[in-house]
Amino acid sequence: MHDVLETAIADGRMGDRLWLYATYHCNLACVYCLTESHPRIADRRRLSDEAMVRAAREARELGFTCVGITGGETFMLPSFPETLAEIASILPTVALTNGTLFTDRVLERLERLAGADAALQISLDSDVPDRNDALRGPENFAKVVEAVPKLVARGIRVRIATTVDGQDAAELDGVCVLHRSWGIPDDDHIVRSVVRRGRADVEGMGVVPGEHDILPELTLTADGAFLHPFAPTVRHGVTDLDLLVSRQIAPLEVPAAAFLRIVADQAVGADVVRNIR
Ligand SMILES: C[S@@+](CC[C@H](N)C(=O)[O-])C[C@H]1O[C@@H](n2cnc3c(N)ncnc32)[C@H](O)[C@@H]1O
Ligand code: SF4
Repeated sequence: MHDVLETAIADGRMGDRLWLYATYHCNLACVYCLTESHPRIADRRRLSDEAMVRAAREARELGFTCVGITGGETFMLPSFPETLAEIASILPTVALTNGTLFTDRVLERLERLAGADAALQISLDSDVPDRNDALRGPENFAKVVEAVPKLVARGIRVRIATTVDGQDAAELDGVCVLHRSWGIPDDDHIVRSVVRRGRADVEGMGVVPGEHDILPELTLTADGAFLHPFAPTVRHGVTDLDLLVSRQIAPLEVPAAAFLRIVADQAVGADVVRNIR
């Protein structure tokens, strides 16, 4: 399988990253959230630490070259700093986070990431506190601007992710002024549209992704394996199964084989533009 996977990556049929949905639980309830995450969610759909570490090991064997961990809020998991460090020791890892849970104790536990091949990708939608917080929740802006310099000072690589629904160019430039002031380069600033799935669909927000807009990247959740990280969304409390690849997630070669069969039929080449990441 290693060679087939490497060829599919080289052909642009799939990404080289394995995505893990650590949990659907969250301390925030952003207006556009793909996963309808919120503090009182009934079904947290969490992957155990052991399942995530095992998947990372198997991913390395199969030829994946990096891991992404998302949710829900990754830092809702009590052991996440240690689990992240363990996964990053297996493959380069980026963990997506809302940046609101970095107490001094968590920052101390994250110090082990300095020098590791790991990054924290923190969401920030505006340089105007009220506009950011209207999308993402009260106090979110203040907590992010407090946390980022503390992480950077500890030698932890931070990326910024901006999710766009109506922000104008000046506002997006303002986010760039902020991240540059923290020493975060432009290459580590991701800007993407709200995708009309999950809560964004219920609210009528964002863009409907075209067939080829999103690069297939094998994505594991407690509900099964999916075609890309914008696929395992939740609408009115129910997981969307339109982009399910396999109910089985372990051993990884089972969903990886099903995924490879699907991406073998996907269009690739210079005419295929992937707009959403
Ligand atoms: C679902 S969150 C999970 C990680 C973490 N809780 C956070 O907010 O960064 C991952 C990223 O997806 C973005 N996101 C959430 N809903 C989205 C949507 N409907 N379309 C596009 N991106 C979305 C968030 O802004 C965040 O940057
Ligand atoms: S976007 Fe992230 S922070 Fe916001 S509700 Fe969803 S999981 Fe939580």
